[in-house]
Amino acid sequence: MAEITVPMTVRDLTREDLPSCDWSGSAAHLESMARALDRVGLGEVDYLALCPPSGLPVGVGGVDYAKVPGAGTLWQLAVHPALQSCGIGTVLIQAAEQRIQARGLDRAELGVEDDNPRARALYERLGYTAYDSAPESWEAEAPDGTITLHETMCTLMHKQLP
Ligand SMILES: CC(C)(COP(=O)(O)OP(=O)(O)OC[C@H]1O[C@@H](n2cnc3c(N)ncnc32)[C@H](O)[C@@H]1OP(=O)(O)O)[C@@H](O)C(=O)NCCC(=O)NCCS
Repeated sequence: MAEITVPMTVRDLTREDLPSCDWSGSAAHLESMARALDRVGLGEVDYLALCPPSGLPVGVGGVDYAKVPGAGTLWQLAVHPALQSCGIGTVLIQAAEQRIQARGLDRAELGVEDDNPRARALYERLGYTAYDSAPESWEAEAPDGTITLHETMCTLMHKQLP
């Protein structure tokens, strides 16, 4: 087995990055990322990209400061499928937490779908604890392009930041 070390940069995601993020979801998902980027200018959202030297994002994730007062809510976390389980998600979450702290806030929030135990285990390893559950819904695009409303139950988790 060959092993390489790849330097990764954390920066803000831009609209120009979106065509390179098609691995993260459907066209409808990319549109929802574009709407999130619109909110960056309003100060409501940070949207991060983790990039190897190519500059192309291999991990992305948003922090919403409007959803829960006094906290940053992590959402739309995604790592390129070919590079999952390498620690990229961990770096992304830590960078998101630093952004929350940089705003003078001390709480990170997130919701994880009840059928995503691997992601939940990662959040628990990083210090997040479950405190409630809530229904969530978002637009999902089928392979034939049909848009449906995906309704699901999420476990709500939070973490006190130092
Ligand atoms: C959830 C997600 C964002 C996590 O990102 P990730 O880069 O895979 O996460 P990490 O690599 O930091 O940690 C996850 C795993 O890697 C392992 N890991 C962490 N650092 C590692 C390293 N240096 N070397 C090898 N493995 C490592 C962890 O133990 C963990 O184990 P697991 O594969 O059994 O779960 C990513 O898997 C993903 O995009 N999933 C699909 C979308 C999704 O579910 N998003 C979350 C919605 S709430």
